[in-house]
Amino acid sequence: MEIKALSSFKVPVIAAPMFLVSGIELVVAATNAGIVGAFPTLNARSPALLDAWMAEIKDRTQGASGLFAANLILHSSNARRDDDLNIVINHRVPWVITSVGSPVKVVERVHAYGGQVLADVATIRHARKAIQAGVDMLVLLTAGAGGNTGWINPFAFIEEVRGFWSGPLAVAGCLTTGRQIKAIQIAGADMAYIGTPFIATPESMASKDYKEALVNASADDIVRTDAVTGIPANFLKSSLLQQGIMQVDGSFLPKGDGDLANWKTAWSAGQGVASVGSIQTVEQWVEKLHQEWRQATEFAAR
Ligand SMILES: Cc1cc2nc3c(=O)[nH]c(=O)nc-3n(C[C@H](O)[C@H](O)[C@H](O)COP(=O)(O)O)c2cc1C
Repeated sequence: MEIKALSSFKVPVIAAPMFLVSGIELVVAATNAGIVGAFPTLNARSPALLDAWMAEIKDRTQGASGLFAANLILHSSNARRDDDLNIVINHRVPWVITSVGSPVKVVERVHAYGGQVLADVATIRHARKAIQAGVDMLVLLTAGAGGNTGWINPFAFIEEVRGFWSGPLAVAGCLTTGRQIKAIQIAGADMAYIGTPFIATPESMASKDYKEALVNASADDIVRTDAVTGIPANFLKSSLLQQGIMQVDGSFLPKGDGDLANWKTAWSAGQGVASVGSIQTVEQWVEKLHQEWRQATEFAAR
């Protein structure tokens, strides 16, 4: 990936793809604000709708960089995997983010039209495999991140990966300020991959109750469990209790009892949730991150 593209953002941030949260409005607002908007293809309820979403996003981001990303869940349980990949390729989506599966088959087809592939990884082993598959950027999922979370400390993760990868690197997990973005850059990363703050925006598809619950939450309210989908993910404790997934004694339903539909009422968030003090637009978040990042850059240059 050309490093030039990395320096052309207002602030080096990808608005991370979030199931049932990121739709057209969030993607368009993020890209037009000068960062990269992204969404999981599954958020469009059918391949036909995904096709329409792609066309609308391209149309409405023409004046900006036009850089947006589609996230493909590559796990074999995703019945739409191949259909969605074909649509992504037909639309020549600039950046394609792969999750939960090998990016091998995606890389060749996306590179063929000049697109670029980002792979999110939570282990060193998967980072190495993604590099072997030929991806253009790694996204390190670190401890405390929202959604299907990571468990490695960000400093340890960046340092070890930088030992064998000199290409573009993004970091996900609890990044909510421009100062933190600068910090991960100094530690060796290029971009921040930010989810939780963008849930509590008018542009997100999250419910009003979910957004308000985020505004009132702190790190102590986040619980990591595999009880919802079988993969460790971070959730607001209150929503797990309400769902009966978590009991008041702290125990969980046996693994596997939850299914994907539980994401509707089990509200995911990362440990950086306390930074979400109010519901603000995507543009306001980008402006805040930009100002803080600029100040931190000046500070670091002293
Ligand atoms: C509600 C929610 C849904 C998510 N859904 C997805 C998803 O569909 N695909 C994916 O690759 N990551 C998903 N993630 C993870 C994010 O893309 C990103 O890695 C994470 O939010 C970064 O951590 P942060 O929330 O602490 O900023 C989700 C995260 C949240 C909070």
